[in-house]
Amino acid sequence: MSGEKPRRLARRGLLGSGLAVLGTRITVPLCTAAQPANSESLKRLAAEKGLIYGTTISANQILHDPAFIALVARQAGLVVPENDMKWQDINRGAPGKDDYGPADTVAGFAVENGMVLRGHNILWYYRTPSWFFALPGRDAKERAVIDRIKTLVGRYRGIVHSWDVVNEPIEPKDGRPDGLRKAVFLEALGPGYLDLAYRLTRETDPRARLVVNEYDIELDSPVHETRRRVLLDLLQRMQKAGTPIDSIGVQAHLAAVGGPPFSPGKFRRFLAEIAAFGLTIEITELDVTDRDTPADIRVRDRMVADTYRRFLDAALDEPAVKMVVTWGLSDRHSWIVRRETNQSKWRTDGLPSRPLPFDADLQPKPAVGAMAEAFTHAPARPPG
Ligand code: XIL
Repeated sequence: MSGEKPRRLARRGLLGSGLAVLGTRITVPLCTAAQPANSESLKRLAAEKGLIYGTTISANQILHDPAFIALVARQAGLVVPENDMKWQDINRGAPGKDDYGPADTVAGFAVENGMVLRGHNILWYYRTPSWFFALPGRDAKERAVIDRIKTLVGRYRGIVHSWDVVNEPIEPKDGRPDGLRKAVFLEALGPGYLDLAYRLTRETDPRARLVVNEYDIELDSPVHETRRRVLLDLLQRMQKAGTPIDSIGVQAHLAAVGGPPFSPGKFRRFLAEIAAFGLTIEITELDVTDRDTPADIRVRDRMVADTYRRFLDAALDEPAVKMVVTWGLSDRHSWIVRRETNQSKWRTDGLPSRPLPFDADLQPKPAVGAMAEAFTHAPARPPG
């Protein structure tokens, strides 16, 4: 992130509202009651090893939860909007009726606080506005995709570190020989939509890193293994076709118990295969559901912490891994706690879930220590 970016933001006047709000209303204290001033922050421990540590955030949190935001500023070197940049969130109404207010607030917050900003995401079948489906014919849909990329990526050009250009492009269960997901963009534009999206993003912001972001590629089960193979095949095809790609995003929505086992060796070998393509790796959405763990908070917090540690120890052993992002920082704001995930991630005993490093009162849980240890023990790498 160069010092030029805030100037460029201001000059282009695009983030006027976000920056004005930030300039007048948001001051970020350097520490909170949750963390004594002299304690180590996750971002610093990560940075010492050439890693960026970050979290999701939302405009709403920036505007209405100063204590949480102060914790974010203290602990995270990067932010990613959980939802505010998704197409359906920017435009629910009709083509041309975009609202970039919340996304600008997040981008402005990152710039004002000298934080790295991830772009999440440009195209995601699951959050595509309903009017897109109703557009008449292929050309109109292609024009809308091109417009989405040029407008969004152009607006945050020079500010976004890495873009999840296509989110979750594979689904072997859909039965295509290439393993691509049979969803809206593929159905409208054919498999070439990937090439179009990555090339146009590169053209629009040549400095942003271009990411394929995927889930269920971490664990030791036939489903995850098939998804890993399909993803590696996709990378190979993209590189052969000259489609620009810089990085793989490993979402890593984990469970402390239940679900397939985690094999550090297998995962480590998969990361090495990605690195062999010359790509970097970003852990983009790490969280650990405590569904099926005992009710006792000490026991389940320990189990969640151990899951973070085992996963990060394996991931960070690969020097191509440059970034760790948790899908939230505190249990106060989590899609698992809000029960926006599928039911397999919810607790059935009615107790609130505790999936993130800090609790809902912004106090550190054992997961903070586990992450700190994983960063401390990670081999150093050239910064990504
Ligand atoms: C989730 C958000 O956390 C929820 O608030 C929203 O309701 C649905 O999307 N993979 C992704 C993320 O790439 O964008 C998803 O975020 C979680 C799964």
